[in-house]
Amino acid sequence: MEDLLKQWDGENLFIRFHHPSGAWIFMAIHSTKLGPPVSGGTRMKFYPDRKAALQDALKLSAAMTSKLALSGIAHGGGKVVIALPPNFDSAMRPDLLRSYGTLLQQIGGLFLTGPDVGTSPEDMNIIAETGDPYVFSRTPEAGGAGDSGPGTAIGVLAAIRVTCNQLFSTNSAASKRILIQGTGNVGRALIEMLQADGAEVLFSEVDKAAIQHFRDEVGLQFIPSAEIYNTPCDIFSPCALGGVLNAQTIPHLQCRAVVGSANNQLAHPTDAELLRHRDILYAPDIAINIGGLMSIIGMESEGWSQPEAFERVTIIVDRTLQQVYQLAATEDIDTHTAALHIAHQRLAAAKPKGKNTTLFIEQW
Ligand code: PHE
Repeated sequence: MEDLLKQWDGENLFIRFHHPSGAWIFMAIHSTKLGPPVSGGTRMKFYPDRKAALQDALKLSAAMTSKLALSGIAHGGGKVVIALPPNFDSAMRPDLLRSYGTLLQQIGGLFLTGPDVGTSPEDMNIIAETGDPYVFSRTPEAGGAGDSGPGTAIGVLAAIRVTCNQLFSTNSAASKRILIQGTGNVGRALIEMLQADGAEVLFSEVDKAAIQHFRDEVGLQFIPSAEIYNTPCDIFSPCALGGVLNAQTIPHLQCRAVVGSANNQLAHPTDAELLRHRDILYAPDIAINIGGLMSIIGMESEGWSQPEAFERVTIIVDRTLQQVYQLAATEDIDTHTAALHIAHQRLAAAKPKGKNTTLFIEQW
């Protein structure tokens, strides 16, 4: 654990052990450079061990700092991971979420959260029972903006279009073969949008009910997990968990580009270089999966309507990704490094927050 913290360049780590369930809550505050506050999702799942959970929290928190900088939101980056014990009793779930809400309350507004892998707007409602007002994405009935999946998908769709433009000189995904990994909140929204665009959508999933739905009812081609990394397609779209682009998978890929919503898709930053050598264009996750947080924060804090939020996400992702591709080409560097470079520049230019600062940093 100590090694992990020594390697991490973040600011604070808060830990709560929830005795009744045996779950660990890791709250990683990576950077307040663009804040306070600090924003980040809450991920709740099983991990092989506590170390893996902490590692995920630390790595995801750093990605959030870059994501917020690239989205133009004047919030710092952080993340919460709730690591469930192997024998977790799901009846403990509400109590665990309320205990976490209390932690948000005690932290006193430094950290604002929303949903992530393993949590939903309904969970946000429960967290808010004790953690109000520091909780985004509650259900509309509870006064929130609801699911962040469609907003994230809108950003990925914009990135797919920019990428199609770059590779095929067309602004649309029509007739492109796109393989979606994961049909969760983002994946399923993206599937609908791509179908509306006339793309040929393939999918991979592990959940039986979801496989049945998308294969048998929607009529999409199902790709079993064992074949996902060597299925020919134009665009591979990871929309599930991180680490899927690595030294084992990259040599097998048969796609022209990778454009997906999952956080931390690269197992290691240098894997972006492996993709580049294979001539696979990588749309960096930190630049393109910002649509969820951006639309939710915009709708809840700035009063944007949903169409306005989606339009703004589209504009920001379109502009940022074009900038990333351009910088990567002119500097002869991989696209992940290019995106980090732009994010770092913005962080370096950040001014200490005064009373009159706006939520969105206009000059970006
Ligand atoms: N899960 C979102 C992400 O990783 C986090 C988020 C969603 C934060 C909604 C705020 C509101 O980008």
